[in-house]
Amino acid sequence: MSKYTGNPQAVQSLVRPDAVHRHLYIDDELFALEMQHLWRNTWVYVGHDSQVPKAGDYFTTQIGLAPVILVRDPSGDVNVLMNRCAHKGTRLLSAQSGNCGSTIRCPYHGWTYHLNGAIRAIPVRQGYEGTAAMASEAGRGVVRLRHVENYRGFVFARLADEGMGFRDYFGDSLTSIDNMVDRAPAGRLEVAGGVLRYLHNCNWKMFVENLNDAMHPMIAHESSAGTAKAVWESLNMPEDAPKPMVVEQLLPFVSNYRFFDDMGVKIYDNGHSYSGVNFSIHSKYSSIGPYEQAMIDAYGEQRAQAILGEVRHNTVYYPSLTIKGAIQSIRVARPLAADKTVLESWTFRLVGAPEELLHRTLTYSRLINAPTSIVGHDDLHCYRSIQEGLAASGNDWVSLHRDYDSAEEGAIAGTYNGLSEVSMRGQFKAWRKFMAPDAGAGR
Ligand code: FES
Ligand SMILES: [Fe+2]
Repeated sequence: MSKYTGNPQAVQSLVRPDAVHRHLYIDDELFALEMQHLWRNTWVYVGHDSQVPKAGDYFTTQIGLAPVILVRDPSGDVNVLMNRCAHKGTRLLSAQSGNCGSTIRCPYHGWTYHLNGAIRAIPVRQGYEGTAAMASEAGRGVVRLRHVENYRGFVFARLADEGMGFRDYFGDSLTSIDNMVDRAPAGRLEVAGGVLRYLHNCNWKMFVENLNDAMHPMIAHESSAGTAKAVWESLNMPEDAPKPMVVEQLLPFVSNYRFFDDMGVKIYDNGHSYSGVNFSIHSKYSSIGPYEQAMIDAYGEQRAQAILGEVRHNTVYYPSLTIKGAIQSIRVARPLAADKTVLESWTFRLVGAPEELLHRTLTYSRLINAPTSIVGHDDLHCYRSIQEGLAASGNDWVSLHRDYDSAEEGAIAGTYNGLSEVSMRGQFKAWRKFMAPDAGAGR
């Protein structure tokens, strides 16, 4: 008899307001339940519409464990289809991206579909005459997701038929996407280059929690950013000497506790949050003159200043997407198992901005997020260490007590000091809510 399946009360009891049970990270059954409930009831990031600029362009990915296709149809619409043939279930497209022309043909028996999922042709179709095939599920073609939202190029989908609407789910946290897109003089982003993706042998939640964990950089990144700082200081450069881009990007990681506390963290309902309310590790990057001029030309001085003055650190769009608006990169969590998560790192071009901006983004991604980075591996080492450490017995609970206030149990949305663990408490509050079997019903 399984412990959690069919026992929602047992699942709910794993989250306290200020601590969570270790099984949330290591239990296979709970992982399966997360895929069935949390990742179906919430809005999950699928991809960016600039990945599929032309009709027939597609990108394959997953929502939870469900394989999906993001595809642009001839009318210009971006559809999200289940990557599953209506006949016997074959995955229709295997490449990660490409162009399928005007139809998708199943590689097994050749059923062919329009890019909105409808059946276009079936070989020797008369074999189905007089049968119930076309009136059955098979006759409906490839499943097209009904709940899809393209927010300023970012495409999200919800698998559950019933549930919270897109705007209610994300609320004002969407201002982080707004700021990232507004940073383009043309008001548009384009994915630049391919994706950096690598397997993390840890639970997906460790990554998502870490994004607003301001207590770790000065410790976990001491070996990488701390070394860069020591090397830079050993050069005895004058205080106002211009720093190379890599130094400028690495040094803030080892700022002190006061810096990260004063940075502040903003919490929204449903697990979303961002750190860097007042300033962030990106605030002191040297300015790029022609870019600022392009922004003033596009928006006027006041508005351009307001956009560029908002320098948020990491925004979490729970549970799947994390963005860094000020540096135009995003990271996406694709869970595979309780202890396996693929992390994707995408970089964006600000349309209308000088190439130097993209250079800054790419440098940051290489240093921090790439499989060959020097900073991301500090985090990965910690995630894997947690994964192994939680096999220990004698203490079943993971502490999230820092700066806890029981008032959070009512309304958690608000602005807090940066070192608080409130963002994680907010995520688990959402976890409980969307893990409930009725979370997708009647809203
Ligand atoms: S499984 Fe796709 S055509 Fe048969
Ligand atoms: Fe980190």
